[in-house]
Amino acid sequence: MMCQIDCSNIAGFVPSDWLESRLPALKSADERLRQGSGAGGGYTGWVSLPRDYDKQEFTRIEAAAKRIRADSQILVVIGIGGSYLGARAVIDLLGGHGPEILFAGNGLSSDALYETLQKLNGKNFSVNIISKSGTTTEPAVAFRILKGLLEERYGKEGARKRIYATTDKQRGVLKGVADAEGYETFVVPDEIGGRYSVLSAVGLLPLAAAGVDITALMSGAHRAMVDFTALGAENPAWQYAAARGALYTSGKSVELLCCYEPSFRFFAEWWKQLYGESEGKEGKGLFPASVEFTADLHSMGQYIQEGQRLMFETVVRFTTPRNEIYIPDDPQDTDGLNFLSGKPLSFVAEQAMRGTLLAHIDGGVPNLMVEVARRDAEHIGALIYFFEYACGLSGYLLGVNPFNQPGVEAYKNNMYALLGKPGYEARRAELEARLSAPQASKD
Ligand code: PA5
Repeated sequence: MMCQIDCSNIAGFVPSDWLESRLPALKSADERLRQGSGAGGGYTGWVSLPRDYDKQEFTRIEAAAKRIRADSQILVVIGIGGSYLGARAVIDLLGGHGPEILFAGNGLSSDALYETLQKLNGKNFSVNIISKSGTTTEPAVAFRILKGLLEERYGKEGARKRIYATTDKQRGVLKGVADAEGYETFVVPDEIGGRYSVLSAVGLLPLAAAGVDITALMSGAHRAMVDFTALGAENPAWQYAAARGALYTSGKSVELLCCYEPSFRFFAEWWKQLYGESEGKEGKGLFPASVEFTADLHSMGQYIQEGQRLMFETVVRFTTPRNEIYIPDDPQDTDGLNFLSGKPLSFVAEQAMRGTLLAHIDGGVPNLMVEVARRDAEHIGALIYFFEYACGLSGYLLGVNPFNQPGVEAYKNNMYALLGKPGYEARRAELEARLSAPQASKD
């Protein structure tokens, strides 16, 4: 198995039958995911995606990536949430070699967009706009600006060849624009929601353009998919889902995803969206948070050790570093570090991890350890699939629809109203009245 899990360090925090007692529910959840018969079952296309993905589109993705790599020094990837986090996570983790990938449209900061635009001065660039709906304000606004810049720089026809649109197969504003303008388009599959879409064109085009081996990524995901068809207590994804459920039931409300690799930061952001949007509803769900060790042991470490006893940790551990650095000897030993002379830095990190694990358990923080051998495309593909599959299982164990996100609409509707979008006039008046008299709460 490409992903393993060690749940031994939750003993004492959960009942001893934490796994056995959940096996029937896990079996049922697995069936609902595979048959698409549970809540949100229309969005379970990701379950078999590593096997059933569109091979012709995959070839087009590789060809488009090759063109981008040949004619662009920068690729600007425009998207938000599930339409960008997966690509950013994998590019950060694996490192790119090719055009620089910049991300835009993932917020509304004029300073951030200005800085991105500055970086394009004097550089050849292309744009990949990714939006399933095509109506999300943040990427739509960024796209309008970048499209204008491309047309100014390369002319209408030149710009057309540098814009790649990843969107719905047949519906939506972006699909309409792409067809009208003649952009090359890639598909966000109907049956896959944003946060489960990294292994579709949503993630694959930016990843391939960045030089990530997407064949290896899909092959790793496929191996994990096959591994996880083994039903029962030995299945690492079942163990993870059951352990999370048991810890939640036993009173833990926060899951901290921890890693000793700084390049993991955006993978943790992707994971937070995956679990937060899938489970955080109906007043339920673990709050997903993340820390980077050892850096955060010098800040958040205090709270983890001694603050409110709310949390458990899930550590993602890459067992073999890509590169090794050895600590040199110093004949004077002025810094007193000669007890480490000749030792690899990874040995020091390993002891930090082992010591932290025990300290946190002693402090009342149970620990799950997800182990992955290497930080390469194949293992990251497997890790993505592990977390997606376990998330689907977890959502069904919790009794929620893991594939909708009704809560995301509330801010959007208010923002549309306040921006004066046609059709929101009454709501705008109501909101403006409340905002000018903030003491008058809605209740
Ligand atoms: O997971 C999700 O569904 C969301 O994060 C969406 O991906 C995000 O809101 C962007 O939506 P869209 O791709 O329609 O622009």
